[in-house]
Amino acid sequence: MKYALITGASKGIGKSMAEILASKKRNLLLVARSSDLLQSLAQNLKQQYQIETDWLAVDFTQAGAGEKIFQWCIEKNYSIDILINNAGYGLSGDFEKYSAKEHTDMMQVNMNMVVELSSLFLPELKKATSAHILNIASSAAYQAVPGLNVYAASKAFVLSFGRGLQYELRRSNVRVTTICPGGTDTDFANRANLIDKARKAGEKLNMTSEAVAKQAIDAMFAGKTEKITGIVNQIGAAFVWLLPKKLVEKTAAGLYSQD
Ligand SMILES: NC(=O)c1ccc[n+]([C@@H]2O[C@H](COP(=O)([O-])OP(=O)(O)OC[C@H]3O[C@@H](n4cnc5c(N)ncnc54)[C@H](OP(=O)(O)O)[C@@H]3O)[C@@H](O)[C@H]2O)c1
Repeated sequence: MKYALITGASKGIGKSMAEILASKKRNLLLVARSSDLLQSLAQNLKQQYQIETDWLAVDFTQAGAGEKIFQWCIEKNYSIDILINNAGYGLSGDFEKYSAKEHTDMMQVNMNMVVELSSLFLPELKKATSAHILNIASSAAYQAVPGLNVYAASKAFVLSFGRGLQYELRRSNVRVTTICPGGTDTDFANRANLIDKARKAGEKLNMTSEAVAKQAIDAMFAGKTEKITGIVNQIGAAFVWLLPKKLVEKTAAGLYSQD
């Protein structure tokens, strides 16, 4: 029996991906910090879709988080054929607003855990007939974003890592797909403490977590290497590529920086 392991499954895009995979009768392992949310989601999906589910509350900023998830799977005899690296968050405002630890904690969640879980679970994934790693990066991966700087850089890392890993694994049974959502209606804006200008822009353009999750899961099963969700975000990424970098950065700073 195989499972899909989803990080950041308690809410937002991760929760929506869990619901879609459950509707496709995939067994689920749900990981995040909020035990109450994970427990109720796991129970509801198990009842509604007659699948196997389990959950584990782990804070990815704590030492040994990746090993804890891996050992949990070994002890419970859970074998996975889908690994979804979705947990992540941003911190908005100028670089100097945050301590070094706040920056490196975010990098731990957004980057290090993606690498660590991919490394720990890859031998297991290679045993399946066909298997997937799905990474959630961001449209912020395509440019520097002053005012959301370390976050954007962390997502550039996720995209680059995912593409490179897909190439290395091209002759294997494992497909690596990296998704780049633009603004999506989740708890992201609150956790990142986005300022009003960015929130107002988001009100007009944001996608729902359900729509992003559907495009992500479809792209994963289609074996795509990279997918920007939504036509508006695809056009945005094309402009970022075409326009002078300083102009692109100034426009982003206008949304995410205070001045
Ligand atoms: N929303 C957007 O506009 C947007 C755009 C582009 C990319 N993304 C990316 O999409 C992914 C999902 O975010 P979302 O928009 O769905 O936001 P969200 O609703 O805030 O969900 C974030 C998920 O990550 C988990 N998480 C956060 N910190 C964690 C930690 N220290 N340890 C373990 N789990 C942690 C959260 O669970 P707990 O709080 O329960 O720990 C939650 O399940 C992220 O990688 C984000 O960067 C979002």
